[in-house]
Amino acid sequence: MKIQVIHGPNLNKLGSREPDVYGTQSYESVNQDLYAFAQSSDITLECFQSNSEGDLIDCIQSANETCDGIVINPGAYTHYSIALRDALAAVSIPVIEVHLSNIYQRDDFRKKSLTAEVCHGVISGFGINSYFLAMQQLLLLHNAV
Ligand code: DQA
Repeated sequence: MKIQVIHGPNLNKLGSREPDVYGTQSYESVNQDLYAFAQSSDITLECFQSNSEGDLIDCIQSANETCDGIVINPGAYTHYSIALRDALAAVSIPVIEVHLSNIYQRDDFRKKSLTAEVCHGVISGFGINSYFLAMQQLLLLHNAV
């Protein structure tokens, strides 16, 4: 199966960005681990990151044509992007929203996710394991078909 991982704004700064919240592992190293996990699970993986809403939407739309599932960390867009939500609502493949941090333990404005409401599910608070868990769930869904 083919999975598209989509990292939203500021996630390219992982490792140096608020390490007490998001950890010290760099963005490049996170992706390396994601590719290694995918390889060991027979998943073909594409990882994409952008700080721009439009590029993220383009990626969602094209993944819908070419992939079997999406794992997305929409970053701060989670909390206010109707455009991203609409893009996710329009896809026909399963989408799992992930967050490194537990968004429900943080600022009030982070407790609302516009995007989660149109996703298959949400995994929040497990660091990079949030991505692994999401990929495992997509695999289960795919193999159940
Ligand atoms: C985040 C949580 C968001 O609130 C924040 O804006 C991020 C990262 C996470 O992975 O914990 O950029 O999505």
